Amino acid sequence: MNRGRFITVEGIEGVGKSSNIAVLVEQIEKAGFDVLTTREPGGTPVAEDIRKLLMDRGDEPIPEIAELLLMFAARSLNVNNVILPALQAGKWVVCDRFSDSSRAYQGGGRGLPMETIDSLAEWVHGDANPDITILLDAPVEVGMARANNRGAPDRIESEKHEFFERVRACYLNLAKREPDRFVILDTTRSLQEVQSDVSLLVQQLIADY
Ligand SMILES: Nc1ncnc2c1ncn2[C@@H]1O[C@H](COP(=O)(O)OP(=O)(O)OP(=O)(O)O)[C@@H](O)[C@H]1O
Ligand SMILES: [Mg+2]
Repeated sequence: MNRGRFITVEGIEGVGKSSNIAVLVEQIEKAGFDVLTTREPGGTPVAEDIRKLLMDRGDEPIPEIAELLLMFAARSLNVNNVILPALQAGKWVVCDRFSDSSRAYQGGGRGLPMETIDSLAEWVHGDANPDITILLDAPVEVGMARANNRGAPDRIESEKHEFFERVRACYLNLAKREPDRFVILDTTRSLQEVQSDVSLLVQQLIADY
């Protein structure tokens, strides 16, 4: 059986990842493929526990290195217990955030060395790199305004504006570094316009499969 396609969706808070994943999945299913959706950090019971540890605004500070390693610990669980088995069963996998989030947030945002993050990614999921990564891009103010409608910010969402500027700039650099893997969609446009781009992209992916 053909291995399924592995699609990741990236971008800063509120750019429309969840809204567009819904269309992505609908379109892939319409074409007759089984789709598994998952998210990071999370996707398995233990990884979801790690997510809670990372998002909760407890009293104990979380060192940047601990944050990075917890992200990759959760990713190892998701890759081995959920993503690889699904791909091997011929399912397509759509993941809300993946290693590019670690590069953008812990690398670009927090300033941890990119070589270390790349080595961790290779070590943790060298055999499960995304086939395609959709980077949803909008200015920080736009994403934040949309995300703020959703109630109290979590630990990472509480970072300052400049942090997210660095994250966004890093994402755009990553897309430049790997232009064959990344597709950038400008999500300052209406949701309808963005979603029609997502549909076109799915049609192209299916034609190439
Ligand atoms: N292109 C768009 N135009 C207008 N509103 C949008 C657009 N895309 C998403 N939204 C709205 O912005 C809000 C945030 O979108 P969504 O939850 O999809 O973002 P997200 O990237 O998943 O956020 P998070 O990173 O916090 O999970 C939602 O209310 C959604 O309806
Ligand atoms: Mg979301």
